[in-house]
Amino acid sequence: MTNLTVLNCDLKEGVLTVVIDREDKLNALNISFFKEMDLVMDEVYSSPAIKGAIITGRGTKAFAAGADISEFMHFDANEGKKLSRNGHNVLNRIESCPKPIIAAVNGFALGGGCELSMACHIRIASDNAKFGQPEVNLGVIPGYGGTQRLIQLVGKGKAMELLMTADIINAETALRIGLVNELCTLDELIPKAQAMMAKICSKGPIAVGKVVECVNAHFKEGVLGFTTEVNLFGECFKTAEFKEGTAAFAEKRKANF
Ligand code: COA
Repeated sequence: MTNLTVLNCDLKEGVLTVVIDREDKLNALNISFFKEMDLVMDEVYSSPAIKGAIITGRGTKAFAAGADISEFMHFDANEGKKLSRNGHNVLNRIESCPKPIIAAVNGFALGGGCELSMACHIRIASDNAKFGQPEVNLGVIPGYGGTQRLIQLVGKGKAMELLMTADIINAETALRIGLVNELCTLDELIPKAQAMMAKICSKGPIAVGKVVECVNAHFKEGVLGFTTEVNLFGECFKTAEFKEGTAAFAEKRKANF
């Protein structure tokens, strides 16, 4: 992955750490971010060397303080729609990825930053993190899936409140309402995300991918989650990792996937 300007990627022990690298703009998500994130996702999907990815922001202040307002402030309706569709496509690829993607939220996760974190499978936040969808302050609404994923994570009432008031909530509140999975100090953030990733990566990777597909099926229009589960459960019986996992249990040893 060469020629990246907004993202900084580092692959260690099968885990790709993706850092949004625009600290002077609080890691605001510009058009280049989405182009580069799409390229990174090509790599995450296709490279056998990558077992999972951690997404975080550069510095101690922001994960991402939203879509880059300076880029879209003069857009017309068509350009706005195109921007939203493009954002949806990239974030959908994160959400649907069969490999685990963890957001390590290290500060402001506002607007598009909150939406990016919600597209990830799991969110771990440092105690200085702040979340919000402040778009109505700007006379616009979330355009990268925020109106939908926020409901899925915190329920309709809280989602309505956060979207309509543009309130910014602290990390404790985000934990309490289910927007984040775990909290820690800023120093512990990446180690904690790495530890969770290592735990997930020690499991059957095909089964983990099928879990992602089944959970996402619950929210897909026209798709029956229970039927998806029946089908994917059946498919597991064809895999070598199922044979290894069950054999390891019978032989009272740790599975080697
Ligand atoms: N888009 C573009 N630039 C942004 C940005 C965004 N979403 N968020 C922050 N920045 C830029 C600022 O313009 C500033 O750039 P400058 O130094 O060239 O003027 C820089 O990042 C630092 O931000 P600043 O506002 O000075 O920091 P702060 O600590 O005073 O305030 C925030 C932090 C997060 C409260 C404030 O930056 C903010 O409200 N950002 C916008 C949040 C938002 O509405 N997001 C949703 C967008 S749809």
